[in-house]
Amino acid sequence: MTDKQITELTIRRPDDWHLHLRDGAMLQAVLPETARHFGRAIIMPNLVPPVVTGDQATAYRNRIMAALPRDMTFTPLMTLYLTENTDPDDVAAAHAAGIATAVKLYPAGATTNSASGVTDFEKVRPVLDRMAKIGMPLCVHGEVTNHEIDIFDREAVFIDKILRPLRKKVPDLRIIMEHVTTQDAVDYVRDTPKNLGATITTHHLIINRNHILAGGIKPHFYCLPVAKREAHRVALVQAAISGDKRFFLGTDSAPHTDPLKLQACGCAGIFTAPNTMSCLAEVFEAASALPKLEAFASLNGPRFYGLEPNEATITLTKGDPVAYPSYVPTADGPVTVFDPGFDLHWSVTSN
Ligand code: NCD
Ligand code: ZN
Repeated sequence: MTDKQITELTIRRPDDWHLHLRDGAMLQAVLPETARHFGRAIIMPNLVPPVVTGDQATAYRNRIMAALPRDMTFTPLMTLYLTENTDPDDVAAAHAAGIATAVKLYPAGATTNSASGVTDFEKVRPVLDRMAKIGMPLCVHGEVTNHEIDIFDREAVFIDKILRPLRKKVPDLRIIMEHVTTQDAVDYVRDTPKNLGATITTHHLIINRNHILAGGIKPHFYCLPVAKREAHRVALVQAAISGDKRFFLGTDSAPHTDPLKLQACGCAGIFTAPNTMSCLAEVFEAASALPKLEAFASLNGPRFYGLEPNEATITLTKGDPVAYPSYVPTADGPVTVFDPGFDLHWSVTSN
C-alpha cells in the first residue's frame, strides 16, 4: 500500500518532549490544547522567575494538574532550570523523588526568559557529573549567544565550541539536543554513538527562513532557534522519517499573545500545540513515510527517556480539510495557532 492509499492510521498516543505551558491564565488556556492529543510532555522551566529547585518544580506541577480539565488525562514531566548556583543534591533528590525528569540548560541570553542561564560551564560541572552518575538527562538549548556570531550559525558553533567539549568532559551524561534546526546538528547526533538524542519541532519540518522573511516579515513564524535555509529543513525531515531512534518529537510549542508577537521587538515562539499531529501527518505523508510517524511521535522519545510508550492510542483519519481555530483566546489576549500554509486533511481522535 502506498502512503496515498493510507486513509487511517492508529498509533500509540504521542508525547511532546519539549513544551512551554507558561503559568496562570496562559497555562489554563493552552494546557487542554496539548492534553487533547498528547499523553505526556517535558515541561520547560523558563517561567519568570525560572523553575530552579525541586520545590519549585513540585509547585509548578501542582499548578499544571490543577489547570487540567477533569475529563482529560495528561502527565507533565518536569525539568529544572540549570543555573550556576544549582545544588547537585537538590537536583538528585528531585530526580529520585520522581519530581524532575530532566535538567534544562539554557546558555545565558539564548532565548525568551533565559537570563539566569549558564555562562561558565565549569561552574555547573558538579551538577552535570552528578546527573551522569544517577542517569538523569540534560535537555540543551543548543545555541551560542555571542553577539558576534551570526544568528543562523549559532547552532553549528554551539556544537563545536560547547557540545563537543562538554561531551568529552562528561561522556556518560545523557544529552538531548533540543529543537535541532540544521544539517550540522542532524549529522552530529547521527555520528555520535551513545548518550545523545535530538528533538525536532513541527514547524522546523515545515518552514524555512523564506517563510519568515520573503514577501513581508511574518512574526508568527519567528522562533528560536530561527528556521534556517531549505536544505536544512529537508535534512530535518529526513531525520524525522528515518526511524532512527535518536530523533523524536519536541514541538517547542511556545505561546505568546499576539500583542507580544506583533510589535517592533516581537517575542520568539510558535504555538503548534493544537494542530501538531495533523501537521505531522501531512509532512510524513508527503515524504511517503506515514508508517514512521509512530516512531517519531510516540516511541523514540520514551525509549530515550527510559519510559514505556503510552498504552492508549490515537487514530489519524484522512478526509476533508480539518478546521483548527486560528487562535486560542486567553485572558491576556489571543494566541495565534501555527499556520502551516497548506490544508490539513488528517483529523485526530483519541481512542
Ligand atoms: C521559547 C519561549 O518562548 O519560551 N521560544 C522559542 O522561540 N522557542 C524559548 C525557547 O525554547 O527557546
Ligand atoms: Zn522551547
